[in-house]
Amino acid sequence: MIAAVYQSSGDADVLRVLEIATPSPGPGQVRVKLAVSGVNPTDWKTRRNAGPPRGQPSVPNHDGAGTIDAVGAGVSESRIGERVWLLLAAYNNRWGTAAEYSVVPADRAVPLPDSASFELGASLGVPALTAWLCLRVGGHPAGRAVLVAGGAGAVGRAAIELARYLDAETVIATVSGPEKARIAYDAGAQTVVNYHEPDAARQIIDVAPMGVDRFVEVALDQNLELDLKVAAPHAVISAYAGNESTRAILPVRELMAANIALRFLLVYKVKPSELTAAINGVSEALKAGALTTPPLHRYPLVRIADAHDAVEHGAVGKVIIDFQPAQAGNEPPSTESALGS
Ligand SMILES: NC(=O)c1ccc[n+]([C@@H]2O[C@H](COP(=O)([O-])OP(=O)(O)OC[C@H]3O[C@@H](n4cnc5c(N)ncnc54)[C@H](OP(=O)(O)O)[C@@H]3O)[C@@H](O)[C@H]2O)c1
Repeated sequence: MIAAVYQSSGDADVLRVLEIATPSPGPGQVRVKLAVSGVNPTDWKTRRNAGPPRGQPSVPNHDGAGTIDAVGAGVSESRIGERVWLLLAAYNNRWGTAAEYSVVPADRAVPLPDSASFELGASLGVPALTAWLCLRVGGHPAGRAVLVAGGAGAVGRAAIELARYLDAETVIATVSGPEKARIAYDAGAQTVVNYHEPDAARQIIDVAPMGVDRFVEVALDQNLELDLKVAAPHAVISAYAGNESTRAILPVRELMAANIALRFLLVYKVKPSELTAAINGVSEALKAGALTTPPLHRYPLVRIADAHDAVEHGAVGKVIIDFQPAQAGNEPPSTESALGS
């Protein structure tokens, strides 16, 4: 198969596109013929900072969608031919989605309804699961006012769609400008506020006079002051982003006085029961047609380095890698047996 492979951490040029042996599924695993691989910030961050799982030559990218073409022992053969979306494919696993085939534990390949495109399927794993997890902290958000910070981001956009699906009373998003406002409105936000504007808090309170109950927060360190200005008593702030140097100053008395709960989430490390609930919830939302394909930036596999760089530099919309035949201008990959099967 043709695969993108990296053997050490570093810039995107550590990624090489090679012909390697196609892996076979082991016990409890499925093999998926990829149609689309989705790129997330975690993919370039892992490549740049952590390196491949266990230091082994590995295929990057967690998200993707395609069709199961082989199953290992203990997995029903009835799954062969099933359309699926993948989650956490590269987590503790060499066979991420930036390849013609990925091999994953069977429960990381989730049925994709015929009504959902492979592009949508490849946009779910990291973003939609994270959004679901954030929205469900503190209970069902039905009838609540939800504020999604960064509503045009991959997680933010999914959070808007899921908050609407979950019958939030009002869904407000913050963005930095008009292009991102359009994306947030298209996803279903009822109000979109530019967080750089000095009266952002007033604009939010105008549409949520009782205060915001749930925050899906991409930048707690930068936004906590704004969040506290608009929070309802007993609000829940779910923070899902930050790097090693991110520090937030907590106004403890203010948080305490309003009985506000802060929750931090990392999709890899939530409890298995929470992850299962999120997979089920996202699957139901998908079947209901509540999740839509984001604006796409398509790359062929030979340009995976550009795809990773695009995400690192803040591409607006979803960066995907296509496995369509006959992509004009693609250079043939070099042939090398970097990975065993
Ligand atoms: N914890 C987890 O499990 C988890 C899961 C998924 C993603 N993440 C992390 O979450 C972050 C976002 O991921 P993503 O895939 O959604 O990225 P993305 O598609 O690049 O979106 C990030 C969005 O946040 C916006 N933003 C940045 N600073 C903001 C601020 N102060 N207030 C409001 N919006 C702000 C950005 O737009 P502007 O800069 O123009 O405002 C952008 O639209 C990444 O760091 C990623 O690694 C963590």
